Amino acid sequence: MKSYRIAVIPGDGIGREVVPAALHVLDRAASTFGFQLAREEFPWGSEYYFAHGRMMPEDGLELLRRFDAILFGAVGHPEIQDNVTLNGLLLPIRRGFVQFACVRPAVLYPGVRSPLAGRKHGDIDFVVVRENTEGEYAQIGGNLHPGASDEVAIQAAVFTRKGTERVIRFAFELARRRGRKRKLTSVTKSNAQGYSMGFWDRVFADVAREFPDIATESLLVDAACMDLIRRPESFDVIVASNLFGDILTDMAAMITGSLGLAPSANLNPTRAAPSLFEPVHGSAPDISGRRIANPLATILAAGMMLDFLGEEPAASVLERAVIGVLEAGGPVTPDLGGSAGTDEVAAAVAEQVERAPA
Ligand code: NAD
Ligand code: IPM
Ligand code: MN
Repeated sequence: MKSYRIAVIPGDGIGREVVPAALHVLDRAASTFGFQLAREEFPWGSEYYFAHGRMMPEDGLELLRRFDAILFGAVGHPEIQDNVTLNGLLLPIRRGFVQFACVRPAVLYPGVRSPLAGRKHGDIDFVVVRENTEGEYAQIGGNLHPGASDEVAIQAAVFTRKGTERVIRFAFELARRRGRKRKLTSVTKSNAQGYSMGFWDRVFADVAREFPDIATESLLVDAACMDLIRRPESFDVIVASNLFGDILTDMAAMITGSLGLAPSANLNPTRAAPSLFEPVHGSAPDISGRRIANPLATILAAGMMLDFLGEEPAASVLERAVIGVLEAGGPVTPDLGGSAGTDEVAAAVAEQVERAPA
């Protein structure tokens, strides 16, 4: 029987509610499809920080390296500055494991209402590919004279040819693999940031020559935000820098119903290090502890993990099980207009997985 080693990091807040829910569904998928998930859970995050003064042990990445994949919840605690929590755990994993392609599908599923008037299932179906290791998140900079009236803050954005080319090439290949509109939209801000974003535009044009079968489009990020609202049906694959990809994917989540439905795969496509699968959302302190967080984003992320591991039939049954629950009108959590709890939704998805013909 095939077996996969999965590192599980629930993290903080609702991460600790939605990850167990997704594990419940994953276990059902494993038993239904005949593979094993050898899981190890790591109690890293803000509680760990309060006890040890850091978000994960110093050799955290080395501990994770021997796994086939990482399932992640969320981090963020109201009493710790966000850049401490994120730069102490999630972002070093994305950078350190060269998970350069962050893949975030945005699909308007049947049974889900978009806040955009008149949009129904099938109208919105695109994927954002976000550069995930450099750009505006490069962590290059510093504060001079901190706290003083003449304080200086510098935060450099770093765009390398290697980093830019590989994520753009990945996005073109994805547009080809999807075989839908065969279109790639690049999002920049080269009218204001000519050095970095003008460079991105040139690399995009260079790589585009390798993909004559894929139509291209370049948008400025402000116009792209407008077009996500105005003509979401026109997108197929979008490629953007780290920060722009982050912003666009919260918008993409909302136009397809809820942040609680949006999954994310942080891929190292070379497989030289493990990839990480998580929901797009954060630790949601406003609802944490109430067990009403929507687990579907994390369940869909777990499905993307199965797909990446080579368990495509199980992955597609898992997505179909989520669709089955949504299409039937529930049970769903309050963010989708329902009144169900996290575990009830997960149980309904697990039941549909089990019923699927293996
Ligand atoms: P958030 O994504 O945690 O929450 C935004 C809003 O969406 C909240 O109203 C929340 O209740 C709702 N929401 C999010 N996920 C939901 C779900 N599964 N079901 C139902 N409702 C859901 O963003 P935020 O409030 O800006 O950030 C909270 C903390 O999370 C911060 O510390 C932030 O830095 C961190 N964060 C972490 C990650 C991550 O770990 N990947 C991602 C985003 C934010
Ligand atoms: C996301 C999150 C993170 C990001 C934050 C928490 C650093 O918003 O995964 O979308 O910006 O990458
Ligand atoms: Mn985000």
